[in-house]
Amino acid sequence: MVICLSNHLNQSKMIRTLVVLILFFKAGLLLQAQNAVPVYLDPSKPLEQRVENALSLMTMEEKVALCHAQSKFSSKGVPRLGIPEVWMSDGPHGVREEISWDSWGAAKFTNDSCTAFPALTCLAATFNPEMSLIYGKAIGEEARYRNKEVLLGPGVNIYRSPLNGRNFEYMGEDPYLSSKMVVPYVHGVQQSGVAACVKHFALNNQERWRDHIDVELSDRALYEIYLPAFKAAITEGNAWAIMGSYNQLRGEHCCHNDLLLNKILKTDWKFDGTVITDWGGAHNDKQAALNGLDLEMGTGTDGLTTSSQSSYDYYHLANPFLKALKAGEVSTDVLNDKARRVLRLIFRTSMSPNRPWGSFGSPEHSKAANQVAREGIVLLKNDQQILPVDIKLYKKILVVGDNATRRMTLGGGSSELKTKYEVSPLQGIKNAFGAQAEIKYAMGYAAGSPAYGRELPSKYNLDTLRNEAVRMAKGVDLVIYVGGLNKNYLQDCEGGDRTQYNLPFGQDKLLAELLKVNKKVVVVLISGNAIAMPWVSQVPAVLQAWYLGSESGNAIASVLSGETNPSGKLPFSFGMKLTDYGAHSFDKLCFPGDSVKEVYKEDILVGYRWFDTKNIVPRFSFGYGLSYTSFHYGKASVDKPKYTKNDVVKLSFTLTNSGKRKGAEVVQLYVQEKTPSVIRPSKELKGFSKIRLEAGESKVVNLELPVSQWAFYDEAGKQWKINPGQYVINLGASSRDIKQQIPVTVE
Ligand code: GLC
Repeated sequence: MVICLSNHLNQSKMIRTLVVLILFFKAGLLLQAQNAVPVYLDPSKPLEQRVENALSLMTMEEKVALCHAQSKFSSKGVPRLGIPEVWMSDGPHGVREEISWDSWGAAKFTNDSCTAFPALTCLAATFNPEMSLIYGKAIGEEARYRNKEVLLGPGVNIYRSPLNGRNFEYMGEDPYLSSKMVVPYVHGVQQSGVAACVKHFALNNQERWRDHIDVELSDRALYEIYLPAFKAAITEGNAWAIMGSYNQLRGEHCCHNDLLLNKILKTDWKFDGTVITDWGGAHNDKQAALNGLDLEMGTGTDGLTTSSQSSYDYYHLANPFLKALKAGEVSTDVLNDKARRVLRLIFRTSMSPNRPWGSFGSPEHSKAANQVAREGIVLLKNDQQILPVDIKLYKKILVVGDNATRRMTLGGGSSELKTKYEVSPLQGIKNAFGAQAEIKYAMGYAAGSPAYGRELPSKYNLDTLRNEAVRMAKGVDLVIYVGGLNKNYLQDCEGGDRTQYNLPFGQDKLLAELLKVNKKVVVVLISGNAIAMPWVSQVPAVLQAWYLGSESGNAIASVLSGETNPSGKLPFSFGMKLTDYGAHSFDKLCFPGDSVKEVYKEDILVGYRWFDTKNIVPRFSFGYGLSYTSFHYGKASVDKPKYTKNDVVKLSFTLTNSGKRKGAEVVQLYVQEKTPSVIRPSKELKGFSKIRLEAGESKVVNLELPVSQWAFYDEAGKQWKINPGQYVINLGASSRDIKQQIPVTVE
């Protein structure tokens, strides 16, 4: 009994212990469950797992809400799950001031004055991908500090016509240069956990009728000229977002274009990020749902240009999309793919575990802006070495031109900036030379003030201004003319194209009059486009200075004074006249189109491809830029006489700085197929490198050229193709200054 009793007691103790253990275990589980972070919130979990987990917890309405705007520059997150909203900001050259929730007006913040970086034409003109990384990193830090998840830039549309109002925002006429310069910019931006949103995909090569013009072009022109920079930004830059353009391609708006978005971008290029419309770029419920668009932003879609009762619910990817999903007209797979891509964007940015904190308006960012600006300025002419300015020779200097004092960060459209500061060219020149010489200023011409979609005339009389400038020019030793274009409507500005190739506001006449009274006129052009230069033979020096941002005056003065030896090269050709350009060599249908359709009749022959193939001499060629020193190219050799298409050509030669000051040279390689089976340009840029050399220094330059990049797009076979045969590698200092031609055979 006793044994049995004791056994019984033991058993009940065991059961009691067991029950207690189970209770503890369950409590532990419960506790663990309560404290357990769901996968989507667990930063240690892989991103894709977090995306899938969040998706599995969301309702259909919540997923649809991810796919369209909630305000001018934001889209919904998932408030119930603590998934943040997506905030976006322009633009490619700096973080735009805060815009109102529901209007294009400024929100009038007082903490959003940014660093203004140079325009991307200047970045391209550096021909230095290291500058792109510095630039992207700095602007990404500013966007991060301003708590933006998406920076709406860079823009890489190809420079087809010198009249395009937005060329200043892009990287020029050559797909290879744009491809090489855009990738490090994207890497730099995304280092701060901010998505770069490469734009405008694709064929947004003018502003006239931009919201609907239907572009027609060959597959070769599409693949060889207009897509490469976007492809590089996506496949090499790994951009997390891309913006559809306003125009149409072959009858479908690019913001929901099956060929561009579903086939090329998401299938061929394997893009896993988010396709965002340009603002108001979606026009069709069904196409918006099925043709690859993920996030619809905008001003109004169904004619609602005000935002009464949150017009955002009327967006194509809002109620109409939800309705179609509920009716089973659109598969929920389509919805899940969009929501997945937007969630991926959020987990890569605001919900990324190791996201840096950014910085804003810092000295480092000013330094970056200054460096890019100085490296991008292009010296186009320098007779009798009048530059750099030897200030001992000049006691009185007259600065002439509206552009010497005009703030160029204002205007221009969505890339406009509210900057912490902007050093004007006049101020920069005063800082550099004011101690040794008397610096006077005459406006010379006036240009009105920037306003979107209209031109505000200036209150000045042009004759009076010109006569005053000419009078003052008589009595000085040197005139520094600062002119060019500006950010007014119908100049270098979004929403319109230039209406003339010559300088506006009577500048050609002003220059002619100034030259009558003073031969020493150094011309500094501030612009983002080529112009006619009827006066160029009479002026001793011309600098192409881009829109340089906050550090404008410092960079221009640094080059004028010789503190910086210019090393920029033109990212687009300067034709003698407008009709020298391919786009302007046909008819209205070719440019700007007939208001409905536009046909790119120059096809693949864009920029120098046109000039060199048609033997049209440009005023200044693509890749051209002088230095205050000189360079000597030694004899180049390649490692083999014959290559297969999978080989990489190794080319080397000795470059010598044969001048008296240190400098940098951009050596360029253009490839030509001798007997092509299709029309091919007489040369195409396939390699470049910026080499820095001390005075007298020599360096062996080694360049690699993958033969596979010499292919053309075979329209019949719908694939890239390289023919066996004879090719020539043109080694040069510009597209027309060819030092040597090295023949090679491709087997
Ligand atoms: C504009 C521009 C685009 C900009 C967007 C938001 O229309 O085309 O570049 O990012 O709208 O401002």
